[in-house]
Amino acid sequence: MRLEGKAAIVTGAARGLGASIAADLVREGARVMLCDILVEQGQAVAREIGEGAVFRALDVTKADQWAEAVTAAEARLGTVDILVNNAAMIEQVPYDDVTEELFRAIFEVNALGTFLGMKAVVPAMRRAGAGSIVNISSTAGIHSSGGLAYTGSKFAITGLTKTGAHMLGPERIRINSVHPGWMRTPQTEAAPLDWVASLQPLRAVMDTREVAKLVSFLASDDASMITGSAYVIDAGALLMGARDIVDRMHEHMA
Ligand SMILES: NC(=O)c1ccc[n+]([C@@H]2O[C@H](COP(=O)([O-])OP(=O)(O)OC[C@H]3O[C@@H](n4cnc5c(N)ncnc54)[C@H](O)[C@@H]3O)[C@@H](O)[C@H]2O)c1
Repeated sequence: MRLEGKAAIVTGAARGLGASIAADLVREGARVMLCDILVEQGQAVAREIGEGAVFRALDVTKADQWAEAVTAAEARLGTVDILVNNAAMIEQVPYDDVTEELFRAIFEVNALGTFLGMKAVVPAMRRAGAGSIVNISSTAGIHSSGGLAYTGSKFAITGLTKTGAHMLGPERIRINSVHPGWMRTPQTEAAPLDWVASLQPLRAVMDTREVAKLVSFLASDDASMITGSAYVIDAGALLMGARDIVDRMHEHMA
């Protein structure tokens, strides 16, 4: 129960990774406000998690909704000690199909939404005397592996994390990014994940609960000296690349 006495906001918590993160934070003793634009699904997930979980509708691209959500979280949960910026829009289309409109939509949710969340919770974290923000990026935010706009937005999250961590460190507000590789979520339902697993060094595709455990650790005081760091959790996928070319070269030469 490493999060006993703490209160958290998790965005994009109505399904997928966000729902797993909310459940793990509650399992570790936190009180959690799950936020999403999917209201019925979010309410159902909060009910399923049970005591310690409440749901609130929030569109992360709207600053006024963020202000109201933080006020509501302080009223219902007491403080805001933890924020997990997880909500995202995913895009994987060819170069010519990335329009200005699509680019703006992806950046609004993934980059602006993360920025607005970081801005909104800091006054509450100052009142609490400390805080931990975990921004969900992707392996695409370390190495190019997603769509053009998606990858750009996930690199933006890495930059927001490191600069924010530097600026807020003196106030005991820590910010780290988590960079998952392939996970089984509604977003990846159509992807051939068993085939992906057969290629990855650990011969597996992650379950969201494995990523949630890393988030709970970073949110907790066990990580009190960790800030500005980028944590990759990807079943070894980023080890591929140059190494993969060498292996294929040996196969080709055999
Ligand atoms: N699934 C993967 O393999 C994978 C890999 C790397 C990184 N990620 C990252 O993990 C996170 C979760 O991904 P997922 O696969 O669970 O996705 P998902 O689409 O299942 O969940 C995303 C959630 O964000 C919510 N959301 C979207 N726009 C929103 C908005 N404007 N305001 C509030 N909520 C909004 C959605 O309603 C949804 O519930 C994302 O940041 C994603 O980029 C996922």
